[in-house]
Amino acid sequence: MDKGQGMQPGVDWSLRPLADMSAAEFDDWQALLEERSGMVVTEQRRTFLQTNLSSRMREVGAQDYASYYRQVTDGPRGAVEWSTLMDRLTVQETRFFRHPPSFAMLSAYMKQRVESRSATRPWSLWSVGCASGEETYSLAICAAEALTCTSGETHFGVIGTDISLSALNRSRDGLYVRRRLEQLDPDLRERYFQALADDRFRVVPSLAARVCFARLNVLELASAPMSDVDVIFCQNLLIYFRRWRRREILNRLAERLAPGGLLVIGAGEVVGWQHPELVPVADSQVLAFTRKCL
Ligand SMILES: C[S@@+](CC[C@H](N)C(=O)[O-])C[C@H]1O[C@@H](n2cnc3c(N)ncnc32)[C@H](O)[C@@H]1O
Repeated sequence: MDKGQGMQPGVDWSLRPLADMSAAEFDDWQALLEERSGMVVTEQRRTFLQTNLSSRMREVGAQDYASYYRQVTDGPRGAVEWSTLMDRLTVQETRFFRHPPSFAMLSAYMKQRVESRSATRPWSLWSVGCASGEETYSLAICAAEALTCTSGETHFGVIGTDISLSALNRSRDGLYVRRRLEQLDPDLRERYFQALADDRFRVVPSLAARVCFARLNVLELASAPMSDVDVIFCQNLLIYFRRWRRREILNRLAERLAPGGLLVIGAGEVVGWQHPELVPVADSQVLAFTRKCL
């Protein structure tokens, strides 16, 4: 990459159209993104990369791709900028109960397992790549419903993790506009959300108290503190990664499952993956595995 000139004081770069990214620059950015986040930016997504990079470059006054590259790779200050850039480059599309058959399976699994599972520790559930929190709160609602109707107890906690700090902040706010809740069963919306004056809805405090959010890059799962997790959802995240990396991540997630725990993956996101400790769940619509009991 041509490590070009830095910012020139007094020049309004926002008025200058950015040049097309050269092949070498594209290679450098592609490699950096994949090394740090696992995300593969294919040639088809070159425009997406260029558009988002250039919009951020205008905001920070970076003159060209090379100087901005230097900026994001420059020590602790670069790390802050990198984090902002991640917010722009990750796809954070999500919905409540996005894949209904997966949640139906979760509900059935929890109801059936409540009998055999030791009641001495609370249930733990984990949404990996939680975006703005819809999946995490869906898991919490599903758990609350399943446990209340079987045991009357609601001893559970849910964690949502993501690489994007802005997504995590939105998750923690637990505030959603009416449109985001349209697909939710009206009865669940009534019981788990409070309508605010501005036509937004807030997750009720009793549910929010069971949920927490933390930053976690799935490339760093080896150092993550989670263990003995009862339910892991990892949907619509692995699709951005290479096949070998998908398997690596799933191997790490499998290690975090409690004996008898359930791992639910996005349908079709991995093909032919097996793990010696996991047993596939027979279901034509859901890709899921349970960990063998001890
Ligand atoms: C398309 S959303 C999926 C949200 C939710 N799981 C669902 O299925 O609706 C993908 C999420 O993965 C996150 N992500 C991308 N790369 C990541 C990484 N290396 N580590 C953790 N999260 C990552 C993105 O920030 C984004 O919020």
